Amino acid sequence: MSLVRVHNFSISLDGYGTGEGQSLDAPFGHAGGRLHSWFFGTRTFRRMQGEEGGSTGVDDAIARTWADGIGAEIMGRNKFGPQRGPWQDEDWRGWWGPNPPFHTPVFVLTHHPRPSVEMDGGTVFHFLDASPEEALRRAREAAGGLDVRIGGGPSSVRAFLAADLVDHLHVVVVPVLLGRGERLWDGLEGLEQRFRTEAVSSPSGVTHLTFTRP
Ligand SMILES: NC(=O)c1ccc[n+]([C@@H]2O[C@H](COP(=O)([O-])OP(=O)(O)OC[C@H]3O[C@@H](n4cnc5c(N)ncnc54)[C@H](OP(=O)(O)O)[C@@H]3O)[C@@H](O)[C@H]2O)c1
Repeated sequence: MSLVRVHNFSISLDGYGTGEGQSLDAPFGHAGGRLHSWFFGTRTFRRMQGEEGGSTGVDDAIARTWADGIGAEIMGRNKFGPQRGPWQDEDWRGWWGPNPPFHTPVFVLTHHPRPSVEMDGGTVFHFLDASPEEALRRAREAAGGLDVRIGGGPSSVRAFLAADLVDHLHVVVVPVLLGRGERLWDGLEGLEQRFRTEAVSSPSGVTHLTFTRP
């Protein structure tokens, strides 16, 4: 059976995976770039942007596994865009430009489904109003035997963890205190008992935690 994986999911010390007040100009709300500054310098991130160079240390070594063996992604609607409620503008195609870094089918969970959108480079956005279990069934079908990544945001990752559907969770604990936003861990008391956990500290100041189903 293909695995369900979460990669490079950054949280603040107080457990927030995004800030408050998301908008077109602020995809992470008041968090700005603080949750991902460890990632921006890596070779992996630069390649995602079609750029050369970047660091090749611990952060990159761990981050670069995010795409290996992945055949589909599931994301929440608020990762896809800042809109809420019925779509006012179906021309919105995500934050990532004409060639998003996913290169697979991507299932966007939303209570407001709309027609699928085909992008350059193999990314196709499908919009799905479904339970985590049903969304995973659809994503597995599309992934052709490869693994499925849960791409975020925090409330979507939390829902898949609550339903015990995640096999590998990589969380990056970033030494900032956001104070408000959307928290990852709420309602998941005792989660660690389901996983084998490892931690690696990086010179950048972040700690990489992995939770792997034994
Ligand atoms: N920390 C990280 O590494 C990381 C990674 C990715 C994204 N992010 C950030 O996280 C934020 C988004 O996270 P979030 O927790 O606010 O939201 P999210 O998980 O991206 O999306 C939540 C929304 O998706 C829809 N949805 C979720 N489950 C559904 C289901 N089962 N059926 C139908 N619709 C469903 C609902 O929207 P509707 O009811 O409106 O349809 C819900 O309000 C963004 O700021 C993004 O930039 C952070």
